[in-house]
Amino acid sequence: MSRTPPKQKGDPETTGHSWDGIEEFNNPLPRWWLWAFYATIVWGIGCTIAYPAWPGISRATAGVLGYSTRAEVAAEIAAVDAANAEINARLETTELTAIDNDPALVSYAGNAGAAVFRTWCAQCHGSGAAGAQASGYPNLLDDDWLWGGDITAIHETISYGIRIEEHPDTRFSMMPAFGRDDLLEDEEISQVVNYVMSLSGEPQDPGEVTAGAAVFAEQCSACHAEDATGDRTQGAPDLTDAIWLYGGDYERLVETVHNARYGVMPAWQGRLSEAEIRAVAAYVHGLGGGEATATD
Ligand code: HEC
Ligand code: HEC
Repeated sequence: MSRTPPKQKGDPETTGHSWDGIEEFNNPLPRWWLWAFYATIVWGIGCTIAYPAWPGISRATAGVLGYSTRAEVAAEIAAVDAANAEINARLETTELTAIDNDPALVSYAGNAGAAVFRTWCAQCHGSGAAGAQASGYPNLLDDDWLWGGDITAIHETISYGIRIEEHPDTRFSMMPAFGRDDLLEDEEISQVVNYVMSLSGEPQDPGEVTAGAAVFAEQCSACHAEDATGDRTQGAPDLTDAIWLYGGDYERLVETVHNARYGVMPAWQGRLSEAEIRAVAAYVHGLGGGEATATD
């Protein structure tokens, strides 16, 4: 049985609703709550006036404070640059070979260089700098270097690039396309490929190898050296170490000798700051294959 409690004196009005005899008081909202609610509305409108907010046809309203997230990011970047200005200047003026003796520079270059590498180098050399199998992008972790693995050589390679024809200081050399340009018969190419394969321990037909050795001495040794261990002044790889840029099986080697390859590496001077180039050079040098500077 339901029963409506008698309305007490001083009770607020009811809303007039009644469910099973239960009625609803029409209590006013607490004052403090109501004012806080109005304040949020005023605050909200204020924000849309102060900051970029209302979408327009081509752009949103700019806001009277002139704030933009882009400007904020730019300011943050400028602040980081300013904080690093001193160490960057030190990195730029320290002898390349002396960077290793300065622990603060080594640690800074390691971090900054790794960041540069992730952004600018990893797409070709792999995020771990291990290159890619038979792609022409060299592994930078090992101690097999085309152009040299001391910090000065690495810095030069990165600064001026490889086979960047418009760059006067670029590293440059060009293996002839022996087949395409009719410098060698198909048979001679096959022989020299057999010889090259034998150098890294792949057993080959001895007759082919002997004939190939003669072709090699005549056509290849000027760049790859008599003993085929390569020549860094020409970026000609060591052909005896079983480390292949473009693949070491018969078909790929025939392709290399027939058409030649023309590995291109961008020049970074002008695109990266000198401090960034030095940082990434020190980073690459520190990856494991880095060589001490040759004393001559
Ligand atoms: C567009 C692809 C590409 C990018 C990007 C690239 N490289 Fe290279 N890099 C190459 C190729 C290809 C070679 C090998 C060229 C040759 O055949 O001599 C090479 C060679 C090198 C060498 C010489 C290795 C040796 O054995 O002597 C170094 C050092 C190097 N790159 C560092 C870097 C660094 C550091 C960056 C980033 C700042 C970078 N590369 C970005 C393609 C690239
Ligand atoms: C003018 C110098 C020059 C001559 C001559 C030359 N090479 Fe090369 N060779 C190079 C260079 C530089 C490379 C590096 C690849 C590139 O061009 O990107 C290379 C690369 C190669 C490679 C690829 C190695 C790898 O790791 O994948 C092979 C194989 C090779 N040469 C074999 C030969 C043979 C065989 C001959 C002779 C018939 C020859 N080369 C003559 C300069 C030369």
